[in-house]
Amino acid sequence: MNTLLVDIIWFHAPVLLLVLTPETATSWWYMGAVSSSSSRVMCNNVPGLVTRQRQLCQRYPEIMHVIGLGVSEWTTECQHQFRHHRWNCKTLERGQSLFGKLILRSSRESAFVYAISSAGVVFAITRACSQGELKSCSCDPNRKGPSKDHRGSFDWGGCSDNIDYGIKFARAFVDAKERKGKDARALMNLHNNMAGRKAVKRFMKQDCKCHGVSGSCTVRTCWLAMGDFRKTGDFLRRKYNGAIQVVMNQDGTGFTVANKKFKKPTPNDLVYFENSPDYCLRDREAGSVGTAGRICNQTSRGMDSCEVMCCGRGFDTARITTMAKCECKFHWCCAVHCKDCLETVDVHTCKGFRDGAWIDKT
Ligand SMILES: *[C@@H]1O[C@H](CO)[C@@H](O)[C@H](O)[C@H]1NC(C)=O
Repeated sequence: MNTLLVDIIWFHAPVLLLVLTPETATSWWYMGAVSSSSSRVMCNNVPGLVTRQRQLCQRYPEIMHVIGLGVSEWTTECQHQFRHHRWNCKTLERGQSLFGKLILRSSRESAFVYAISSAGVVFAITRACSQGELKSCSCDPNRKGPSKDHRGSFDWGGCSDNIDYGIKFARAFVDAKERKGKDARALMNLHNNMAGRKAVKRFMKQDCKCHGVSGSCTVRTCWLAMGDFRKTGDFLRRKYNGAIQVVMNQDGTGFTVANKKFKKPTPNDLVYFENSPDYCLRDREAGSVGTAGRICNQTSRGMDSCEVMCCGRGFDTARITTMAKCECKFHWCCAVHCKDCLETVDVHTCKGFRDGAWIDKT
């Protein structure tokens, strides 16, 4: 290569990059895919990290590993919550965005994803602290010595989940992405990130063990533990249903409720700006993969019914035969013997065709 060519490449490369990627749909969400590699490689291979996140990544590689493993946990929870819906929190195998362009939208669904992902980070870090997996944290150091509750006095003992550490780190890491240009979407994301962190804290519960003469409970040891992540998922799902549409206020420093008839959002509420697409068709710009091929329920009258799920396009039916246990009998004592039976079920999947044309918006 002659030097002139090298000069041109060096000179133009950054410009080209800017032109080709005006707004990249990348995020730390992608860390789930690369968390198995070494930390130096990982921190440089997640294109969505901003400088501050990259610094934290290099400084706390073990926490990044925990965050990366946590990605599959909160995406699974998201998919569970939306399993009967057209938008089902499906992650994309290819591309470094996990949810496609959904990350660039400000819909109710993006509000949910931001909230549950930030909740997932709190949960994963806090649990790792308690399990002694991290050098930088352990059980809550403030839950020590004697204390009191409505049942009387007790001693803090065992390991209380250090949720304050989880929340602090999650805020520093996840929110860093939104701190640069504080545009409308950044404000929305910050709000929903916070709602997600608070949701985890809401389900902290106090567990106690009784001591004393024959379990008389004259002495109690207690600790604080996080609830199951399902509880956080259920809670955020209810918040999704009641999410509040907002608009930027006049001076652009915050938002106000779009329809004055509705209540103002509290820190626990999810907020969004734009109405959702119907998610019927594949539309990359809208972050929709469409419902072609989705399984629907012919007898249901809800969101998973074939009518709603397939958006009126109709469905295909496949008869599937599987081997199942049947006619199980209990034999004294103690065994259960079953027969193998063939079981036939009809599985309905949404069509992607209408009038002989493949429906695909992009
Ligand atoms: C289909 O929906 C009906 C009614 O809601 C429900 O009882 C049934 O379990 C569903 N079937 C499947 C396979 O989910």
